[in-house]
Amino acid sequence: MRRPFLRVATFTVVFLAVYCYVVVALSNIAGEKARVEKEKAAFIGGAVEATPEAGENIFWGKGACHTCHSIGGRGSAIRGPNLGESGPLGLPIGARAMKRAEERTKQTGKTYSPTDYLVESLMEPDVYLVEGFSKLMPVAWRPPIALRPDAIRAVITYLQSTGGSADLASIDQSPFFSQLQALASSGKAQGSAAAAPKLLVSGEAEAGRELFFNADSPAACAKCHRVGDKGGNVGPELTNIAAAQPLEYLIESILEPNKVIVKGFEPVMVQMKGGQLLTGVIKKESSEMIEIGDSQGQTQKIAKGEIVERVPQKTSLMPGNFSDILTVKDFHDLLAYLQTLK
Ligand code: HEC
Ligand code: HEC
Repeated sequence: MRRPFLRVATFTVVFLAVYCYVVVALSNIAGEKARVEKEKAAFIGGAVEATPEAGENIFWGKGACHTCHSIGGRGSAIRGPNLGESGPLGLPIGARAMKRAEERTKQTGKTYSPTDYLVESLMEPDVYLVEGFSKLMPVAWRPPIALRPDAIRAVITYLQSTGGSADLASIDQSPFFSQLQALASSGKAQGSAAAAPKLLVSGEAEAGRELFFNADSPAACAKCHRVGDKGGNVGPELTNIAAAQPLEYLIESILEPNKVIVKGFEPVMVQMKGGQLLTGVIKKESSEMIEIGDSQGQTQKIAKGEIVERVPQKTSLMPGNFSDILTVKDFHDLLAYLQTLK
């Protein structure tokens, strides 16, 4: 018989305590080695030319930006704001950065250039959130993205070139960029724990994959999540999730799904004319219909005329009881599998 292992509080605390211990131990013992390894592993090796073309390749490739951002009609990701003119303020990011710089200058009393804003977005994405989005963007120089400063420079010239022109000098003059360079090359970077997850997660990816896709397993993640061309669409696609998010985020997503609700997957409760209530995620909407995905991973169409009210909910559609129904082994196996999704 399967025995659910621990309840949520102990589970989380024990797990995170072990995690922190491993991270601390590792950065002490192997800090220097990890730093050197990271330096080697960090981004595709070789120098990166600071051109918009090189930045474009990074954005749509190893930099994983495209797992969360689309640019205009290119790409389909919705976790982060569209960086083309269909995004916030109706301006592509190269031009939008000017408005954002004004906002930041007002807020902080420090003078921001548009480039300063772009650098800050990549260095400390959480200090100023785009309206309607949550703290989801990883720091670009830390694992798993781990771009080197020269790669970040290239990406910024690419962003500048959308709705403006690339301006390398403004990057090199940005005090934010000097700060980023210093952080990225410092061994104290939190990211030097990069090697820790490998040690910690002792699960078997193949067993995790089975749990993920088997609808009769206690995990059955594929009911709602797609990887490659398999799985549902009520939750976000996870095909490249490990390229964009660190292990801590994956752990938190499973144990505490309500902590961050991914944009585009906010739950709503819909009240129908007959009094019936439906909770789900709105997948599509037209002037006559909505298509709603429910906690069984099923979608259904409802005529808008049938709807009395829609109330936003705070509880994610993702089940909150995995720590009750998964064994510790299941959990490790799942994490091992998720980490292969790059
Ligand atoms: C895991 C998802 C994720 C990844 C990966 C990601 N971002 Fe973001 N990004 C977000 C979210 C969410 C926001 C909005 C919240 C915020 O401001 O931090 C954002 C905000 C931004 C902004 C500010 C947009 C504005 O309207 O002002 C820029 C610029 C940006 N990201 C660039 C990038 C680049 C370049 C990369 C790749 C190196 C990247 N992002 C990778 C999720 C992501
Ligand atoms: C009933 C549908 C459902 C099931 C089953 C489900 N999830 Fe989710 N999941 C969601 C939804 C909806 C979101 C987005 C809202 C949120 O952030 O909580 C989400 C978010 C996530 C995220 C964050 C994704 C991102 O883009 O940042 C991860 C990781 C995740 N789920 C992993 C899993 C794993 C692993 C399992 C199986 C153990 C699982 N989910 C089972 C619905 C589901």
